[in-house]
Amino acid sequence: MLKKLSLLPFALLLLIQFSTCMPNRSSAEESDEDNSRENRVPESRKRIEALVYKDYLNFLNYRLERSHKIAKDVLADPLMNSINSPAMEEEKNVLKKYVKESKEALTIALPADKNDQQNRFFFALGKDFVLENFNRFNRTRASTTEKLTLEQKVSWEAMKKHGILEYNRELELRTNEFVYSIVDGFDNYIKTLTPAEREKEQELVAVWNRYNKKEVGMDKIEFGQRLFTIFFQYETKA
Ligand SMILES: *[C@@H]1O[C@H](CO)[C@@H](O)[C@H](O)[C@H]1NC(C)=O
Ligand SMILES: *[C@@H]1O[C@H](CO)[C@@H](O)[C@H](O)[C@H]1NC(C)=O
Repeated sequence: MLKKLSLLPFALLLLIQFSTCMPNRSSAEESDEDNSRENRVPESRKRIEALVYKDYLNFLNYRLERSHKIAKDVLADPLMNSINSPAMEEEKNVLKKYVKESKEALTIALPADKNDQQNRFFFALGKDFVLENFNRFNRTRASTTEKLTLEQKVSWEAMKKHGILEYNRELELRTNEFVYSIVDGFDNYIKTLTPAEREKEQELVAVWNRYNKKEVGMDKIEFGQRLFTIFFQYETKA
């Protein structure tokens, strides 16, 4: 499970269907097409959404930084010039492109006036999209089943020399930390709701109660993933 999670681009998690134990959007909300999200979503909900987004952004930036550095160090390694071939040029081109794009993805900021759920969603997705280029490059070269070209083997040697294996281990821990922090943030969110806010968040409070009574049949990681899909989602009515 943990292994699988670190491989999954987080965006994919968004496609996972909510389980029936998670609250459905009420029919009143569904039919309320004219009301903008601004009016519809309680302030308290925006607090937890902002928190989850911030954690997610930190997690994405951490991965961009680490992979950027590895790609840059690999490019600078003499190993990468040990073969002179078009395929080796291609290895370097992919990495050069990644170094450039990951740097841009790290530098870019969401304008303050665009800091709503929908824009944040696409902003984070854009970073994830860049990251996936590195992950894909890594996956092929790390493969023990595919037959690698000489050039790919050279890249893999250089990647190992510059910390890809350490990064992979670290990433597994960080992924868990990120998901745990969502559950802890949710816990804190429910505990700090005012009585009026609790009223508006009845369904979430019920989910929280079931989780604490171990009735949801999910461990902390699975529960955190579900929460992530609830609090970080594409909002068509934003
Ligand atoms: C949510 O809706 C689905 C489909 O309409 C239903 O099967 C499920 O039981 C509902 N869940 C809750 C918690 O109401
Ligand atoms: C690199 O690929 C290996 C093998 O598929 C995988 O275990 C590891 O998590 C990947 N690392 C990244 C950063 O995608």
